[in-house]
Amino acid sequence: MKLDPSPEEFRRWGEAALDAAAHYLESLATRRVYPKTTAAEIREKLDRHLPVEPVDFDQLLDAFRNVIVELSRQNAHPRMFGYVQSPGTGVAAIADLLTSVLNANLTAWRSAPAPVELERLTIDWIKQLLGYDKNGGGLFVSGGSMANLAGLAAARGAKFAPESLNEGVHSIGKKMCIYGSRETHHSIEKAATLLGIGRDNFRKIDVDKDYKIRIDQLSARIEGDVAAGHIPICVVANAGTVMTGAVDPLQSVGDVARRFNLWMHVDAAYGGFAAMCPSVRSMFAGIDLADSVALDPHKWLYIPADCGCVLYRDPAAARAAFALDAEYTRVIGQAADEAFAFWDYGPELSRRFRALKVWMVLKGIGVKALGEAVEKNIACARHLQQLVTNSDDFEMLAPVELSIFCFRYVPDDLRRELPGAGEQRRRQIDEELDAFNERLLVALQLDGSSYLSNALINGRFSLRGCVMNYRTSLRDMEILLEDLRRVAGTIGPAQEE
Ligand SMILES: Cc1ncc(COP(=O)(O)O)c(C=O)c1O
Repeated sequence: MKLDPSPEEFRRWGEAALDAAAHYLESLATRRVYPKTTAAEIREKLDRHLPVEPVDFDQLLDAFRNVIVELSRQNAHPRMFGYVQSPGTGVAAIADLLTSVLNANLTAWRSAPAPVELERLTIDWIKQLLGYDKNGGGLFVSGGSMANLAGLAAARGAKFAPESLNEGVHSIGKKMCIYGSRETHHSIEKAATLLGIGRDNFRKIDVDKDYKIRIDQLSARIEGDVAAGHIPICVVANAGTVMTGAVDPLQSVGDVARRFNLWMHVDAAYGGFAAMCPSVRSMFAGIDLADSVALDPHKWLYIPADCGCVLYRDPAAARAAFALDAEYTRVIGQAADEAFAFWDYGPELSRRFRALKVWMVLKGIGVKALGEAVEKNIACARHLQQLVTNSDDFEMLAPVELSIFCFRYVPDDLRRELPGAGEQRRRQIDEELDAFNERLLVALQLDGSSYLSNALINGRFSLRGCVMNYRTSLRDMEILLEDLRRVAGTIGPAQEE
């Protein structure tokens, strides 16, 4: 292979690669979700010698087909329910190829005029989808964790620009505090650590029976910190928690933020795009109060990784946190509109042209069909909840709010024993169920027909699934329970643990 292939050669590679990609998509539903393999097997199959001499493209494509694809988890499979995993989509895969061919670097308008305008346009569409302030700004980042970091950096900058940005957070001589429910994703805690605010100063507030933040406890904790001489700076609301999908009462969190003059950040990385769906749209009322919002098009907009997004209600506040002067980045001789630079609004300088795939999906597929696909995912989770509630051998551990479902298998013997069990025996049974469901999860993953992940719900081990694939049908939810029953029959009784 040559570094600079001829157009004919490049076309031949592209055709062969697209053919492999189309075959892959065709074969998806018949594949195992998770491969039966080991690190040693994969290492052995990859030629590990430093490649000094070239090989031809067909050899590379063969390795992709026979090793990489075969020994991967199939994230686009209709019964891949683990974590918060998008399947990606065909047009976005093509966009990724075109993005790399153009190789635009979206540091600033002057570096990539049309790509930067396309990013501004798609960010504008995302604001409209969400019902967010039309004067707000934003940018694409690598994912939800980076979007949360950017939102909290803007919050810190807005509250303490001179001292904390120039001299460091220690110059304030007081603790800064951030608030969010105890169900908040750990990327918020990580951001607090990276920003020098400190992990312990992320205050974890209790939740109600639906796993939503308790507003009374939030207010009380802020008052307590003020009384102790600390400096509350930001409250984080969840628009879809990672464990149960709970959406905090955004309006009430916004009221608290205003009352205490705090920055409000919404982590909508998982749930945000459900705002397109009539059946849950009302839950997102109040998101327009947020000073910043973290979103993940690479989750519920079905975009392949990576693509996160942060929105700011007042872009000038974000600019205050991120803008720095340097001669090598100074924009010379441009009018205001063309002097725009993304580096003033986020942590990164070089940035990939993520907007192309978002634009192709939004414009090519349209918001109507995307909203219907998300609504269908929610319907699948509700169907699972119904099946579990009507069954004798499963029980829900948390209510379905969006498309996440948390439940466990209750084997026959334990189910029959439960009604008459005293408190101590009940606790023992819960422990047996934890251990049994943990074994069941591992066995299900190895079985390969369906894939779930896990969560801890009120201290109990939970099987956890998230429907985030437009290929998933109501029937897949039934197959999931059939798979679990079948696999449960192979792992021995619960009491053996
Ligand atoms: C609620 C929430 N916030 C943040 C994140 C982090 O997103 P990413 O993996 O894109 O960094 C996740 C990931 O699942 C999430 O569910």
